[in-house]
Amino acid sequence: MKWNKLFSRLPQWRTTAHQIEARFSQDFHGDFDRWQQALDALPILKPASRDLGDVVTVEGKAKRAQLDQLRAALMELHPWRKGPFNLFGVEIDCEWRSNWKWRRVAPHIGPLNGATILDVGSGNGYYGWRMLQSGAKLVVGVDPTLLFCMQHLAVNRYLKNNRNWVVPLKFEELPGAQFDVVFSMGVLYHQRDPHAHLQRLFDFTKPGGRVVVESLVVRGVPTLHPTGRYARMGNVHAVPSADELCDWLRGAGFEGEKLVDVSTTTIDEQRSTSWMRFESLAEALDPDNPTLTLEGYPAPSRGVAVAAKPKRGNGE
Ligand SMILES: C[S@@+](CC[C@H](N)C(=O)[O-])C[C@H]1O[C@@H](n2cnc3c(N)ncnc32)[C@H](O)[C@@H]1O
Repeated sequence: MKWNKLFSRLPQWRTTAHQIEARFSQDFHGDFDRWQQALDALPILKPASRDLGDVVTVEGKAKRAQLDQLRAALMELHPWRKGPFNLFGVEIDCEWRSNWKWRRVAPHIGPLNGATILDVGSGNGYYGWRMLQSGAKLVVGVDPTLLFCMQHLAVNRYLKNNRNWVVPLKFEELPGAQFDVVFSMGVLYHQRDPHAHLQRLFDFTKPGGRVVVESLVVRGVPTLHPTGRYARMGNVHAVPSADELCDWLRGAGFEGEKLVDVSTTTIDEQRSTSWMRFESLAEALDPDNPTLTLEGYPAPSRGVAVAAKPKRGNGE
């Protein structure tokens, strides 16, 4: 089983093998068989070159019929939320221009030369490719949404790389391990207990390692606890102010916390496309006042904070 390659690097995770296997099944998700058929229908194509830049790209020759087959198979894995990708000329224009987020994050973390990385809530692994481009040695993404794991398998069918993984588990299900850099992007505000999440990020960071937390933030007001939905999302529990996000990181044991970016999310960055045909951010904003969500909360702004784990910290 190919997961053995991951377990050879993280032997303490071997215990999850059965759990991982059980996730890739029709019993776990009613669409699994259809998605697996899509993977099986991906044409055999020979990559000539690969590029892990803004648009994660595989180039190579393909006949018209093969391209139609490729597009149709990839489309079965709709909705594509994180990207962009370009496989043999088939452009996967995802809901999020994730390259824009990466441009806000990457300059503040510098090269990731030789680093081992945990990407919590990795989606389909788009950022993992960018992390490899920045020099990472190994990226382990973890995301319980099976479709995103299968999108990763589809892309990796052509990138053929065993240094960027997407494991179909919840962060809370991972056996302990420590990484040089731990990312949690777009995950914190979905947590019922954000402090427990940050504490767990701390535990998974090597002493002297770094954490990168990207989250919805509110400007200048105490933490927002939406009653009901926020921007039509039902699972937003706590949106901190930027200052509070830094306080929370310190509370978890990190040091040198720095807020490196705050940006308002635009409807150019998150939008419906032919690869994500559901409604998107535009439909979640107040049509008369797009600085507010439909529910009357401040429209989504996102902050990026970086911090370090002390070399000898908290009893280690
Ligand atoms: C808003 S998306 C963010 C994706 C990506 N990190 C980004 O910043 O664009 C949140 C992701 O977290 C995943 N997720 C939800 N619960 C999780 C958990 N308990 N552990 C790990 N990932 C989780 C979701 O499946 C989803 O892909």
